[in-house]
Amino acid sequence: MCGIVGAVAQRDVADILVEGLKRLEYRGYDSAGVAVINKKNELLSTKRLGKVQELDQALTEAPLAGGTGIAHTRWATHGAPSEVNAHPHISSNTIAVVHNGIIENHQALRSQLQGLGYEFLSQTDTEVITHLVHHELKTSDSLLSAVQKTVKQLEGAYGTVVMDSRDQDNLIVARSGSPLVIGYGLGENFIASDIMALLPVTRKFSYLEEGDVAQISRFDVNIFDIDGKPVIREAKEVSVSHDSGDKGEYRHYMLKETYEQPTAIRNSLEGRLVAGKLDINTFGDGADEIFKNVEHVQIIACGTSYHSGMVARYWLEELAGVSCNIEIASEFRYRKSFVPKNSLLVTISQSGETADTLAALRLAKEIGYQSSLVICNVPGSSLVRESDLAFMTKAGAEIGVASTKAFTTQLVGLLMMTMAIGKHHGMSADKQAEITQSLMSLPAKLDEVLALASSIEDLAEDFADKNHALFLGRGDQYPIAMEGALKLKEISYIHAEAYAAGELKHGPLALIDAEMPVIVVAPKNDLIEKLKSNVEEVRARGGLMYVFADSDANFSSDDTCKVINVPVCDGIIAPIVYTLPLQLLSYYVAIIKGTDVDQPRNLAKSVTVE
Ligand code: M6R
Repeated sequence: MCGIVGAVAQRDVADILVEGLKRLEYRGYDSAGVAVINKKNELLSTKRLGKVQELDQALTEAPLAGGTGIAHTRWATHGAPSEVNAHPHISSNTIAVVHNGIIENHQALRSQLQGLGYEFLSQTDTEVITHLVHHELKTSDSLLSAVQKTVKQLEGAYGTVVMDSRDQDNLIVARSGSPLVIGYGLGENFIASDIMALLPVTRKFSYLEEGDVAQISRFDVNIFDIDGKPVIREAKEVSVSHDSGDKGEYRHYMLKETYEQPTAIRNSLEGRLVAGKLDINTFGDGADEIFKNVEHVQIIACGTSYHSGMVARYWLEELAGVSCNIEIASEFRYRKSFVPKNSLLVTISQSGETADTLAALRLAKEIGYQSSLVICNVPGSSLVRESDLAFMTKAGAEIGVASTKAFTTQLVGLLMMTMAIGKHHGMSADKQAEITQSLMSLPAKLDEVLALASSIEDLAEDFADKNHALFLGRGDQYPIAMEGALKLKEISYIHAEAYAAGELKHGPLALIDAEMPVIVVAPKNDLIEKLKSNVEEVRARGGLMYVFADSDANFSSDDTCKVINVPVCDGIIAPIVYTLPLQLLSYYVAIIKGTDVDQPRNLAKSVTVE
């Protein structure tokens, strides 16, 4: 979480930094700040509570001139969102620091530094870095060496950028647990949490590795590894579109990204299903050899990505005949677990930087998982670099905090993974062809679903005055119910829960009354009659229902039940198809409630702290 941008240039950099922050706002938006060094070697800083827009406004009214600078958009961990807790933090009017991550030993360091006479202005853990660098500089011959000594004393996670007002020529950056990428310009260089921030100024990037410290000047970048040895981190040109951050004609990124799903899925399929056959190399070199030996799959993910993994478990066991477990990363990483023989560890992550998922992958390697695969949307991200195999979803940049197209393209990737593994477990050529056919039909099917938007918008009116909602599904639609509930709660702030419909009678049925709308995902499948019995249990207790079903499922609307007709589709892809109406429902409910759809309160897009 938190977004960092830094620049060393001849021109004034405040505008570049603020533009970078706008592109990183998905990482946090509690407060924002910038600091630059001017020609007189003075440190100038402006910070604002709230979004980057507030900072931008302040800088329009009182611009900051300087060619070396750092900036930050914050997602609060230690200390409430406030101007005083906003970064950059400054020590003795000379050292300025921005930081992403959590310094776990900050209390001990704070006491130590207070003992040395340093006065703390904020409640943040970051401020210890600022004073520590200042203190170490007293006995160091350079800012680089002071930062190297400082980071050795830090426990926890950091991506940090340090500048000294007496040295206009350099920024010192350090990475451990929080990503940083160097951007190379002509006579100017940059640093950021994510390449997105720097696309307006460069396309050439190199990623810092864990433990790296680097000195960045206008013409040089010198990188040192964890042992202080000079290292080269290869710089590569990226071909990401400069404008992928634009909202276009849409009111919100979430709506744009919802509508982009047919295209995102088309892109994710393209070149991978050649002449009706899956190209295994799409998972990386040696994929077939790895898949051949897989006897068990362990999936690890968080949030929405966890829900896609839950669907995959149904697919892997039913279609590929391979056993599969799925666990939330923050649980997996802190318990002792058994590693079944010939297990493939699969992580799923839109960002590829989620701290818990990354830690789980690293743990899995330690405890004996022989191979790993990530389903990810961000090339070059930590999970991609540290996994043996990668399936890159081609969703394009997802900016809205609420995940939409990343989720459905993950499902596409997971279905292809099911085919790739199933091939070695007796999945027939006919079944492979059927899945292929199903996947190919998906974009057009999703276009049909998106045409339901205006009727779903009308339906949203029924939810705007409600405080709770219950989502029900069975089989592979249970995770879709969970995803629907997560979407509703995260962007409309309505409390929503999901249950496997068969569980209703074991407790949640007690909640049913006219104030608890019940949303049911009900495509015609093997479980439809069972689900209908559950619907009757709700009806008998005076519940109000909203049933998303195809015509074959045979539901009809009445006083207590509104049926929303979803196009008939192949059962294999039904979890993907039924996701979209629930995304649209939560979007339109949020619009009526007037919440901040793209940047809901208390959240951030990329969760790089545990
Ligand atoms: O980047 P990741 O997919 O690893 O992120 C995991 C979750 O934080 C994420 O899926 C979150 O639950 C969604 N943004 C919710 O819509």
